[in-house]
Amino acid sequence: FPVSVVLPAAGSGERMGLATPKQFCSVLGRPLLYYTLQAFLNVPWVREVIVVVSQDWLQETSDILQSFSPTTRSKVRVVSGAATRHRSIWNGLKAVGSSTDVVVLHDAVRPLVEEDFLKRIVLAAKEQGAAGAVRPLISTVVSPTKDGSMLDHTLDRSQYQASEMPQAFRYPAIMEAYHNCSEHDLDFGTECLHLVQKYAGISAKLLLGPSSLWKVTLRKDLYAIEGVLKEEHC
Ligand code: CTP
Ligand code: MG
Repeated sequence: FPVSVVLPAAGSGERMGLATPKQFCSVLGRPLLYYTLQAFLNVPWVREVIVVVSQDWLQETSDILQSFSPTTRSKVRVVSGAATRHRSIWNGLKAVGSSTDVVVLHDAVRPLVEEDFLKRIVLAAKEQGAAGAVRPLISTVVSPTKDGSMLDHTLDRSQYQASEMPQAFRYPAIMEAYHNCSEHDLDFGTECLHLVQKYAGISAKLLLGPSSLWKVTLRKDLYAIEGVLKEEHC
């Protein structure tokens, strides 16, 4: 069945604190986005990859695509991003081929994609309507008082999980969710699994993913990802 991938890559990487958005930061001589694209383009059953980038980075993105063979890069489509991650994803979803059965969402800043796990997520979404990767929480989560200065209560870490990527959805279900959600959701929401639950009535299957799914967010993550990619490419 046809599988499409949407890669949101239109953020500015504020928490990284560099002038260059993290997805375009150079790692082992190539922009980080190159590795994420490569991971998906290596999967034979992925039909198309839609990359969502901001206007300012269109040229850099087409340069990255030049490093793939013409046949390989013909699977990629580039669309413009927007002010929030949800709005960027929505732009990407609208560009997906209409015969697509399952669409995978994956952050451009998580280059370590494993095909076996991807397949499990896609099959779970095909069956259940939605599926997402989760990981055990590393930190204990506390809930502060309203002004943020005092401990109100501590959550039981064993009862919660961190939501990671990839996530996958039946294409009509995720389109229904985005069609029906509010402007507030598009501006402030953080979780697509929540949108499909609230607006398409689908509870997602959760799959425990490998630790390599972590997201490059802070400066230290760039060093860490470089270390892992170095091992993989040697
Ligand atoms: N993203 C996007 N469009 C936005 C914001 C984010 O496509 N308006 C993408 C990012 O490029 C990234 C993914 O969503 O690939 C995950 O978001 P995040 O890690 O928050 O990236 P940034 O928003 O760029 O980083 P920060 O929140 O630190 O500014
Ligand atoms: Mg962000």
